[in-house]
Amino acid sequence: MDNPRKRLCQRDGESEEETDQLYFNGYASIEVHEEMLMDTVRTMTYRDAILKNQDLFKDKIVADIGAGTVYAVEASDMAIQTRLEIVLPEKVDIIVSEWMGYCLLYESMLKSVIHARDSWLKPEGYLFPSTATLHIAPFVDEEYEDRLGLWEDMSSRYKVAMKSMIPFAKKCISANVELKQLMMEDIVASPLQVCRLNIHKVTPRDIEDIAQNFEFKCYGWNRVHGFTLWFDVEFPGNIVLSTSPFKESFHWSQVVLYLDEPFRTVQDTLIRGSIRLQKGKQPRDLAIQLKYSVDNSAEKEQLYDTGYWTTGVSSVTSPER
Ligand SMILES: C[S@@+](CC[C@H](N)C(=O)[O-])C[C@H]1O[C@@H](n2cnc3c(N)ncnc32)[C@H](O)[C@@H]1O
Repeated sequence: MDNPRKRLCQRDGESEEETDQLYFNGYASIEVHEEMLMDTVRTMTYRDAILKNQDLFKDKIVADIGAGTVYAVEASDMAIQTRLEIVLPEKVDIIVSEWMGYCLLYESMLKSVIHARDSWLKPEGYLFPSTATLHIAPFVDEEYEDRLGLWEDMSSRYKVAMKSMIPFAKKCISANVELKQLMMEDIVASPLQVCRLNIHKVTPRDIEDIAQNFEFKCYGWNRVHGFTLWFDVEFPGNIVLSTSPFKESFHWSQVVLYLDEPFRTVQDTLIRGSIRLQKGKQPRDLAIQLKYSVDNSAEKEQLYDTGYWTTGVSSVTSPER
């Protein structure tokens, strides 16, 4: 069964109902819950957010949207009962939910939280988390060079010249949206915000089409292999869960968008561009459009679809283009 957090294959022509069925079937398998619960930083941040706000929780009615392995509102067979169509006997004071997908919005679970908020949360109620921010930055990846170097090595290894494969290998790598744990030294310019969502106010329309311009000034001599995305969420009481490469690692890692053509930078190289996240080919996927130019060179455009998640060299799929 696919891990619903990252579907590794694309299913053309799938309906919304089929996607939902597969999504919830995925969450009915124990592996994905093991992965989430073994992410101690994630789980402990939720625990801290609740314990450090115990005055808010004391004697209050709380709904956990997508409770997973405990008894509450849960749509997969992992739950004893209930879907979001249930009617609660009264409004709730607090909604807790761990809804964040890769790139924040992959999986589309935020829409369920918005639905629950609008249906059940008291006007003065609290949301855990209450804000979410998506960040972007250019990155360098030495492993990318090793992956291309492999084709150069073939002549010494097997006495077969295979350097001509390099352009195709680059296309294959950049056709996928990849998950990778980056380190702070891999980030080559100050990160910027793609969006900041106030969970009390955000609407389904706000997250249908998110577009942001960016302008990065690079730190120095480097090679940029792509752009990476990660998110932070904040809970009441200034408790932050950050999946940034500057912090401890999470099962979310970072999302990396490799470029067809990596480029060199020097101090203050200017990268201008924009990123846009919209619904992908399947209802819970994202289509990502990246445009960028380097020091006022001609603008390049790359498109990505999160139907093509990969987690490294072994699972790179060939591009259709
Ligand atoms: C990321 S998991 C979190 C599980 C658990 N809260 C935890 O933190 O370990 C999200 C859960 O929400 C459930 N879910 C997603 N959309 C839902 C919906 N519309 N109604 C009820 N449950 C939903 C999924 O089946 C999944 O178990």
